[in-house]
Amino acid sequence: MSTDESAPTLRDRLREAKAPHPDVPALDPDVAPADPRELVREWLIEAVEAGVPQPQAMTLATVDASGAPASRVVLLKDVDDDFWFASSSLSPKGRQIEVEPRVALSFFWSERGRQIRVTGRAVPGSREASRADFTSRHPQSRAVAVALPQSSVIADPEEARRALDDARSRIDADQDSAPDDWTAYRVEPASIEFWQATSGRDQVRLRYDREGDSWTRASLWP
Ligand SMILES: Cc1cc2nc3c(=O)[nH]c(=O)nc-3n(C[C@H](O)[C@H](O)[C@H](O)COP(=O)(O)O)c2cc1C
Repeated sequence: MSTDESAPTLRDRLREAKAPHPDVPALDPDVAPADPRELVREWLIEAVEAGVPQPQAMTLATVDASGAPASRVVLLKDVDDDFWFASSSLSPKGRQIEVEPRVALSFFWSERGRQIRVTGRAVPGSREASRADFTSRHPQSRAVAVALPQSSVIADPEEARRALDDARSRIDADQDSAPDDWTAYRVEPASIEFWQATSGRDQVRLRYDREGDSWTRASLWP
């Protein structure tokens, strides 16, 4: 097989990739709120209004009992005092959280030149919160969630299809049912860092650390 020596390499392509939008908003640490969750909500609403696709998609990092890390994208459902997402407690992430509840979350909104990083403890929410999350999902998403264990290997695609069809029939017959493993988790934040690109090549970083009921603030060198 011949290769074109003059063709740009992946390394070249990555260097050429589009940079974030030059007209990004500013972050002024001097006027930032005392509670970082207020700023998180502000940034999320601004991202929604700016039309950022899936701004609620966040990376959730966990570790297993041996300390091996894993990360995946989940959807943020809400931010009150805590950051909410939902998944199966029997999934790899659910089992990891059970043995080590310390997790990290991150958001990246390229169009806004913004990143938010969160560390904290993931705690299962109430059964009512979990049920409410499950029943608000699209019936097909509910069927997928109950047909087979999340992240299990598909040994037989035909059997998996049948399991999905059966699950969908059960969901359609009982709209209020919710499996015990479906869990609305809340992440209690211990630290929240805001990262804002500027129209120059520098960035503004502001980290909040929780101290009991209040938060300390520090600007970080980029
Ligand atoms: C945009 C996006 C949103 C997702 N949202 C969720 C979610 O809210 N909950 C969930 O369990 N998995 C969600 N997933 C799938 C996860 O990334 C992952 O594949 C799955 O949860 C299995 O992870 P685990 O094997 O580490 O437990 C999402 C994936 C993407 C790309």
